[in-house]
Amino acid sequence: MTKIFISCALPYANGPCHLGHLRSTYIPADIYARYNRMAGNEVLMVCATDEHGTPIAVKADAEGKAPIEVAKRYHDMIVEDINSCDISFDNFARTTDEIHYKISQDFFKYLYDKGLIYEETIQQLYCENCGKFLPDRYVEGICPVCGAEARGDHCEVCGRALDPIELVEPKCLTCGNTPVIRDSTQYFFKLSHFQKPLEEYISTNEYLPPNVRNYAENWLKEGLQDWIMTRDMKWGIPVPLEGAEGKVIYVWGEAFIGYISSAAAWSRRTGIPWEDYWNGHVVHFIGKDIIYHHSLFWPAMLLGRDCKLPDDIFAGEFLSLEGRKMSTSKNWVVWVADFVKDFDSDLLRYYLTINAPLNKDTDFSWDEFQRRINDELADVIGNFLHRTFTFTKKFFDGKVPEYKNPSEADLEFEQSIKELPDKVGDLISDMKFREGLVEIILTAKKGNKYFNDQEPWKAVKEDMEKASNCLYLSNQLCKAMAVLLKPYIPNKADAICNIINIPTENEWDDAKVFLETGHEINKAKPLFKKIEDKVIEEQKGKLYKNLEDSESDKKESKDKDSKDKKSKDSKKEDEGEKNGFN
Ligand code: 2FM
Ligand code: ZN
Repeated sequence: MTKIFISCALPYANGPCHLGHLRSTYIPADIYARYNRMAGNEVLMVCATDEHGTPIAVKADAEGKAPIEVAKRYHDMIVEDINSCDISFDNFARTTDEIHYKISQDFFKYLYDKGLIYEETIQQLYCENCGKFLPDRYVEGICPVCGAEARGDHCEVCGRALDPIELVEPKCLTCGNTPVIRDSTQYFFKLSHFQKPLEEYISTNEYLPPNVRNYAENWLKEGLQDWIMTRDMKWGIPVPLEGAEGKVIYVWGEAFIGYISSAAAWSRRTGIPWEDYWNGHVVHFIGKDIIYHHSLFWPAMLLGRDCKLPDDIFAGEFLSLEGRKMSTSKNWVVWVADFVKDFDSDLLRYYLTINAPLNKDTDFSWDEFQRRINDELADVIGNFLHRTFTFTKKFFDGKVPEYKNPSEADLEFEQSIKELPDKVGDLISDMKFREGLVEIILTAKKGNKYFNDQEPWKAVKEDMEKASNCLYLSNQLCKAMAVLLKPYIPNKADAICNIINIPTENEWDDAKVFLETGHEINKAKPLFKKIEDKVIEEQKGKLYKNLEDSESDKKESKDKDSKDKKSKDSKKEDEGEKNGFN
């Protein structure tokens, strides 16, 4: 039995969850967690909302609210989204929890006391009008590399991380004034000090997937630079040092610690030490945009803190939507809350898993969603389950029939059923979630072929033994699927268990135990309804309408800005005239 610590990247509490979050982290992590629990391993799966940082502070400013109010609102939404998709976290916390402040400040202090964090005076942008430094998103301007409009520390167009001081024509986001450059003392983490041990960690860690290893190796080749760990702003965790008043820990300097503080909160509640899990096998599920942070920065912080490093960092690639990059600002996105209003969340879990392996970028398309649900879940799995259950009810009084004198075809099918649990389990253990699900579908396909070939509807009249064997084995596959589908589509798996009349909580190896002859099943209910074309058309219509609305909103606000500007200019001109400036 192994203890496994699983974490998902902490979502920023500045928006609800969309399909991208689910695909890259929550669904794969949940499949892995559920499987491991069923396989007898002890799992601790944690997450939290990432509540500091400038995006939340900026949003709060714009709404005239306190950042904590904004964070709480989105925290609650995110929790609802996660619950609606049955993501089985053992604890889901907040980085504004007291325990997180304490652990983060202690962590910072530990690194500082070891000489791994040092002070340095650097130049930063300062808005004289607002009387504050402008970290990260508090400033906008033009990307010095590609010339696109860029927000503070990041250019969305060329994807570069920027130092706000590099921006061309910088403007304070709050008041629009041009900031000045001022000296400011900040705290830096000696990331460069960890070059060698990180090279060793990345090259010898047998679990790291190729995308993580490749990215990390390239960055290591460029050489690591020390990392600024603090910001001059109010919203955040105060730097726990004398003389550092008005400074907070950079959000990336404490977000990772959310994994630990969430686990520590769980320990407080349960009395079970989380450290035992950390000292077991640690897996971080993240999106590929934060590989740098997790493969280099976080391990360096842990090395500095004298802690064990994560064993595996699993980075899901991107999900696009109908062939375009998802964008929350353009409303080109499917929100989880909207999806689950219209569909069972298991359909989403299924589609996002089967659509492509996690190490490949993929696309969410409504047509493809419909096709997969109808052709695979309904026609292959649903059809096999339904015909088995209805036939058993009709011809065998709802009881699993006898199995005698099996034919070649029976033995071959029996073998496929028996092999399935280990095949799927090994694939999930290997993080090959899609491949595990494909095995289940292929076996159900085999089941349909076997059922057709055995023609039990004829055999009940001509060869009862043949019909019995067919229904005996078909029920066994239904039972195996009820167990093996649980990590993937937990609600549907439970519904199958209920029809088969077995408990819904199973161990993985229960899939290998055959139902006994005479075991009585319940009445079948259709489990997977086909999705009609008109439902898909409605969804597509909504999506394109959102995009149009957001474009016309933007145009309106641009028109309004330029009108305001014109009227301001003419007002200025008027004033100028009055003052005799022109
Ligand atoms: O990129 C993000 O969405 C961050 N909120 C992820 C933080 S993950 C970790 F550090 F906790
Ligand atoms: Zn300003």
